[in-house]
Amino acid sequence: MQINLDRKPVAALECDALVVLTFEGKPNDRFKEALGEVYASGEVTGKLFELTLVHHPPGLKAKRLLVAGAGPIDKFTAAETRRLAGAALRHLKAKAVRSIGMLLESRFDSAEHVSAAAEGALLGDYEPDRYKSEKKDTKVVDRFTVSVPGGDADLDLALARGRAVGEAQNLTRELVTEPANKLTPTLLADCARQMAVAQGLECEILDRDRMQQLGMGSLLGVAKGSAEPPALIVLRYRPAAPAAGSAHLGLVGKGVTFDTGGISIKAADGMEKMKYDMAGGAAMIGAMRALAQLKPPIPVTALIPAVENMPGSRAQRPGDIVTALSGKTIEVINTDAEGRLILADALTYARKLGCTHLIDAATLTGSIVVALGHINIGMFASDDRMAERVLEAARLAGEKMWRMPLDEDYKDQLKSTFADLANVGGRPGGAITAALFLREFAEQTPWVHLDIAGTAWLDDTKPYMAKGPTGVGVRTFVNLAMNWRN
Ligand code: BES
Ligand code: ZN
Ligand code: ZN
Repeated sequence: MQINLDRKPVAALECDALVVLTFEGKPNDRFKEALGEVYASGEVTGKLFELTLVHHPPGLKAKRLLVAGAGPIDKFTAAETRRLAGAALRHLKAKAVRSIGMLLESRFDSAEHVSAAAEGALLGDYEPDRYKSEKKDTKVVDRFTVSVPGGDADLDLALARGRAVGEAQNLTRELVTEPANKLTPTLLADCARQMAVAQGLECEILDRDRMQQLGMGSLLGVAKGSAEPPALIVLRYRPAAPAAGSAHLGLVGKGVTFDTGGISIKAADGMEKMKYDMAGGAAMIGAMRALAQLKPPIPVTALIPAVENMPGSRAQRPGDIVTALSGKTIEVINTDAEGRLILADALTYARKLGCTHLIDAATLTGSIVVALGHINIGMFASDDRMAERVLEAARLAGEKMWRMPLDEDYKDQLKSTFADLANVGGRPGGAITAALFLREFAEQTPWVHLDIAGTAWLDDTKPYMAKGPTGVGVRTFVNLAMNWRN
């Protein structure tokens, strides 16, 4: 799909359908002539995602006019623009419309809204139908035009940024959609390398031998049960002229290509969804793709520990004790708490590579789904300044996030009789003890942990997005790096 910007008067925009917004209780009087009847009929209320299609609108070059309800005007932000672009695109695509225009009226023709419209259109366009012989959408939208009559010169950049971010988020969704037989740790590493070569990033893949030499016993313990070898994917972006004393951001993403639970095996019901247990890692790969194009001011290194968590005669057992790269010993009480075990070594390695600030994303606990459902990412931070940076990046991205507690007091739950730490802390506050476990490995480096177990997957299709992987996190990570001020 081509995405472009048009600054002509909207009446001159040629397309199969033009999308215009209408707010609750405020008829859009710019299109009185075309919309008089539908407003008079009471059919248009302006409720969010209400869509009304009018054919042959008088006075416009567009063949159709889609009146998109935008909700109350005082609650309208770029997040609504993003979702409305997606909802409008999906609605029109189902009707075989091939070229779409979306008008951003002068109050909403800022860079933020333009980027959001481009992102929303790309996100709405994605269908996880790669393995369907008969595609649900043999229909294709060729062109999506953001109409900003007389808009500023900087909007071209905003559009390009939205395109980069939308494509990156869809790459993440593609990777998460892949089933575990098609995307092993080795193949995930291949995909990351291909992306890096195409985008001009450095890429290094650490194999099992290398990780053994380094002493990554915690990560390797998880990989033991699988015939598929593990990989630690490292992607690097370096700015052309980094500022002296610049921060170095580390993006660490959980890359469990399938989580059976290992010897502490999961129940069969719903286990197929555990292919999404690499969504954190895929989000980091997506974010790096966008950053390679958008060139943030600081160096960024992504680390994705990729493993398959399987039971088997070589698998690690409950009670096994492993030694992490940091030197700490861990008693593996439950082999299903594998995410924290692989992230522990990746966080330590990120520090060794010189990262001064760390953020990780992981489908880490069922507990966060109980606490926050499918709406908010669970956010944990060891450092208030870093927490603020991430919350601001998330707010601008339209990704909801809620800061969770990280009191020392919970740490008693991670005591082990035989080792420095146990890998589980019991059911109470399970997402919190998981985060505290990770903090032991982030040590003094300012660090934020995002538990995306509830938000990386949509169980039901939304007007603006197909069900399946959401690509959550990508937009926040891109903003975090792009807006970084040392
Ligand atoms: N990948 C899962 C987390 C998960 C569970 C995501 C359910 C989505 C839905 C993780 O590896 C895991 O199994 N965590 C356990 C930890 C427990 C054994 C302490 C969990 O949350 O049940
Ligand atoms: Zn698990
Ligand atoms: Zn897992």
